[in-house]
Amino acid sequence: MKSADNRKVQINHLLITGATGFLGGAIISRLIHGDDWPSVLLLVRASNGADGRARILAVLKSFMVPEALLSRVETRQIICGSLDGVSKFAGDERLRNVTRVINCAALASFANHPQVWQVNVEGTLEFARVLHERAQLRRFLHVGTAMSCGVQAASPVREDYEPGTSAKHLVEYTDSKLTCEYKLRQELPGLPLVVARPSIIVGDTRLGCRVSPSIFWVFGMAATLRRFTCELEQQIDVVPVDYCADAILVLLQKPDLSFDRYHISAGHESSSTYGEICSALAPFIGGRSAEPYQKVSHEALCELQSSFDTLFGAGNKRLLLRAMRLYGQFAALGIIFDNRRTLAEGIPSPMSFANYAARCADTTKDLSIYEQMKYDFKGAAVVVNRPKPVKEIAAPAVQEAA
Ligand SMILES: NC(=O)c1ccc[n+]([C@@H]2O[C@H](COP(=O)([O-])OP(=O)(O)OC[C@H]3O[C@@H](n4cnc5c(N)ncnc54)[C@H](OP(=O)(O)O)[C@@H]3O)[C@@H](O)[C@H]2O)c1
Repeated sequence: MKSADNRKVQINHLLITGATGFLGGAIISRLIHGDDWPSVLLLVRASNGADGRARILAVLKSFMVPEALLSRVETRQIICGSLDGVSKFAGDERLRNVTRVINCAALASFANHPQVWQVNVEGTLEFARVLHERAQLRRFLHVGTAMSCGVQAASPVREDYEPGTSAKHLVEYTDSKLTCEYKLRQELPGLPLVVARPSIIVGDTRLGCRVSPSIFWVFGMAATLRRFTCELEQQIDVVPVDYCADAILVLLQKPDLSFDRYHISAGHESSSTYGEICSALAPFIGGRSAEPYQKVSHEALCELQSSFDTLFGAGNKRLLLRAMRLYGQFAALGIIFDNRRTLAEGIPSPMSFANYAARCADTTKDLSIYEQMKYDFKGAAVVVNRPKPVKEIAAPAVQEAA
């Protein structure tokens, strides 16, 4: 591997999609501080520029961006549009000057969504084609997902692993992300494509789950039940969103990259074991943490449902059980994502999840599991009644990364 090259190019005329989302929001909350910000363009689903600007301001505020910086967001930076209607904004003159793209937008949902293929494959491909033809692209940084490796991949999954088009997937979402990558390469061979594939993004090392409790609720739920489908010794590959955003910006700005596909992951070195995560969450579940942990089947988890109202409050138990089955299946795969290429680009390892999990627990303690779940099952009826939090305990201090 070649030694780390820390040069960065200016990122004039960057176009970002998905900036109203979790990862895209983290990215713009960094860019807004920089000199390059005025030339940044944002593709936003909005009826007009003012509405789009308001959506961007809301996400920046959730990332605690100082008020004084918010006036740097200008309506002229907003391109209103959706990946399922690329032709409506394809003729926008501002696209001509774009030199770099971060394509973060996707229907990032494990729920069956009728538009997953349309947005994540066809719309994304059309978007890339338009930019390739009309802009002066030097880099098209597409955010994929490491789980697009499918269920048969051997762990640790290498960054050069090719699952092939017949790979089996647990959900259509990961299948759509892999298909999109393949089609981008096959149908647009001249596209200056770099794919960044995050593993599981949970929380932020500083803000915890204040912005989004996406996926964190699975850990909270399993820690409360003291049962889940994996062994305590199993490592789980999780990265914080702030790390992910920083890594993507390095991959965007480095003038030369050694590869065109990278895992933004914890890898073997920085993945916490399930037991370490449970220990970090123990102060938040009080006395139950003294009960011995058991690895169980999904059926055994289902048998506990009579205790759900007491433990989690009232909510859509059927959806919770479906979600538990799905996330349990992912957890049971026990896949870690090798990140040697990313480290070789000079990007440091992420903070281990166990080291900031308490921050995540503290920032979700007033939300029921059902309310947290809504972030991953957008549109599904999850909460029946807002329950009281099961337990409120002051947060232990967040430990520094080792
Ligand atoms: N979160 C993870 O654990 C994880 C892990 C690996 C990879 N990823 C990838 O990271 C990227 C960002 O994920 P995220 O967690 O930030 O998801 P998110 O919070 O759900 O954000 C998704 C973003 O995509 C936008 N979007 C959705 N449909 C769109 C459409 N038809 N046209 C234009 N924009 C659209 C959303 O806009 P609206 O606000 O208008 O809905 C939002 O800005 C995705 O590519 C995802 O596959 C995420």
